Amino acid sequence: MLITPAILDDAAEIAAVYAHHVIHGTASYETRPPGIAEMSSRMAKVIDAGWPWLVARDASGLLLGYAYASQFRDRTAYRYACENSIYIRHDRRGEGTGKALLIALMQAAMHQGFRQMFAVIGGAEPGSVALHAACGFVHAGRMQAIGRKHGHWLDTVYMQAALGEGALTPPPEEPQ
Ligand SMILES: CC(C)(COP(=O)(O)OP(=O)(O)OC[C@H]1O[C@@H](n2cnc3c(N)ncnc32)[C@H](O)[C@@H]1OP(=O)(O)O)[C@@H](O)C(=O)NCCC(=O)NCCS
Repeated sequence: MLITPAILDDAAEIAAVYAHHVIHGTASYETRPPGIAEMSSRMAKVIDAGWPWLVARDASGLLLGYAYASQFRDRTAYRYACENSIYIRHDRRGEGTGKALLIALMQAAMHQGFRQMFAVIGGAEPGSVALHAACGFVHAGRMQAIGRKHGHWLDTVYMQAALGEGALTPPPEEPQ
């Protein structure tokens, strides 16, 4: 498996991986999959901000999954907190790709300067909770019945991990 930064030409494959989870799963609270142009525009926003967007491919070049991190919320004081997003091709789950991508994403986000990474886990998906726990994330809260999809009320679980020095030291610059 090879993990590399994403490029906009990956948008079609990324949109296809995500579409399955939008249609069939509860990890995303979107109900209609975005098209390739919309996915490309989302990618450009992340990449242009200097935030990490990674893809994993197998030896044949097939895109196995992707992960990205973006500032948790826009407001300035959130400068050092990021939220992740990670999706693996539905028929290639359970092969270690998610863990490898998330570890690489945490490294990349730390180098970008983020001090905390949050996972906002739609539907409290057990696979996602297990993946994040395996990467050192701890529970940071649960919002009950915040979502509704496929005829069910959905809880959202928050998990977080410190990156690098986390909150042990002040950041290099105070957000202005
Ligand atoms: C959640 C997801 C990203 C995990 O990726 P993956 O490649 O299938 O996971 P991995 O094979 O790398 O497994 C990583 C760890 O999580 C555990 N895990 C993964 N899926 C699991 C499941 N469904 N149930 C229990 N444990 C699971 C593995 O046992 C492994 O633990 P270990 O390292 O202690 O052995 C992937 O299944 C996925 O895309 N799911 C749908 C979308 C989603 O939930 N995305 C997250 C949005 S927050």
